[in-house]
Amino acid sequence: MDAIKVGLIGLGTVGAGTVTVLERNANEIARRAGREIKVVQAAVKDITKPRDCALDELELVEDPFLVVNNPEVDVVVELIGGETLAKELILQAIANGKQVVTANKALIALHGNDIFAAAQEQGVMVAFEAAVAGGISIIKAIREGMAGNRIEWLAGIINGTSNYILTELEQTGVDFAGVLKDAQDLGYAEADPTFDIEGIDAAHKLTILASIAYGVPLQFEAVFTEGITKVTHQDVLYAQELGYRVKHLGIARRTDAGLELRVHPTLIPRSRLIANVNGVMNAVVVRGDAVGSTLHYGAGAGAEPTASAVVADVVDVVRAMTADPNNRVPHLAFQPGALANLPAVAMDEVQTAFYLRLELADKTGVMAQVTDILAAANININALLQKADATQSEQSDTATAIILTEPTREGDFNAALAQIQASGSLVGEAVTFRVESLA
Ligand code: HSE
Repeated sequence: MDAIKVGLIGLGTVGAGTVTVLERNANEIARRAGREIKVVQAAVKDITKPRDCALDELELVEDPFLVVNNPEVDVVVELIGGETLAKELILQAIANGKQVVTANKALIALHGNDIFAAAQEQGVMVAFEAAVAGGISIIKAIREGMAGNRIEWLAGIINGTSNYILTELEQTGVDFAGVLKDAQDLGYAEADPTFDIEGIDAAHKLTILASIAYGVPLQFEAVFTEGITKVTHQDVLYAQELGYRVKHLGIARRTDAGLELRVHPTLIPRSRLIANVNGVMNAVVVRGDAVGSTLHYGAGAGAEPTASAVVADVVDVVRAMTADPNNRVPHLAFQPGALANLPAVAMDEVQTAFYLRLELADKTGVMAQVTDILAAANININALLQKADATQSEQSDTATAIILTEPTREGDFNAALAQIQASGSLVGEAVTFRVESLA
């Protein structure tokens, strides 16, 4: 059989990793795919720039449309990221009847519904395993491995850069900017790092996971998104004292009220396996009604881990090319006609526990005032720490209180917090984080 010819769009970190893995493991990959797979062409911005991979039989071009319109190319692998050009290129590739593999989470989260409809119409596949959690086969695990389950909830560390920064913050207390720079130098961070630290990248990935877990159309706009920029070394240490770690989680949960979709820093018990996932590693816990809780762990970014998922997708589409397009694994796990919206649960209605750090006036009765407000709102306190003069100012007449609540309706907690803020007990900031037991 003729070799399958791959055209790459983008030859940066992941593109070079893909060429390297395809070449190094060519024999094993061919034995798995049933065909030899060769990268024949790659579109790059600057043809003269040195690349981190062998370019032997690879033609470099600067116009990416040459790749998607190349009649020789069977599979187009899009690795440039971004929305506009990437979408145009992928739609053109689909129109030309090519199979597509992409690692572009923003594109899938924001435009996946249109792209999959076009692919379905044309009878081609668009594979996107590398878009979520790098080398972890989480898409395949949920879409295929858990096809018999009703998914109850999933929670994941799905942004390696944020996890790297939070880990360094806990272990070394080093400054945010320095750790971010390291993550960028290591090739983990997005071109625009606000996508990582403000939670947007994680929200893109959660959008995709939720869609394949619950059979809902991709709905990025329904995700509540909060990044890691307000997490301090001090809060991480208080959390530790209470037996928790702070992790940036993407959470999707089906409740009677609908679907919760939220990305935010979260305190989780240190005893959970996922609480011990450090550095750039990613992990996703998926709870199905039949299988129970499953944990999927691995490198969430980097050249070869991401290439591992890209190459697996190429093998998948090569294997499925001759299958009846109507009997392939559906892009979003559920048959296209069976996707159905679930109502999005407003954050005020979410049931979650809270970590609350208060800078209080160091006066008799102040703590009672706070606990009275919480009691009146029916918010049960689970743990309480009080630190004198935690602001470390010698003249300071303040005390820091750290309160962990039991799960409560978020709207009720916010109303109680507003009362605490209006009570005059507070002399400094009130910092809150959500707490999940992941039980
Ligand atoms: N910027 C992403 C991360 C890369 O840090 O996880 C992989 O999607």
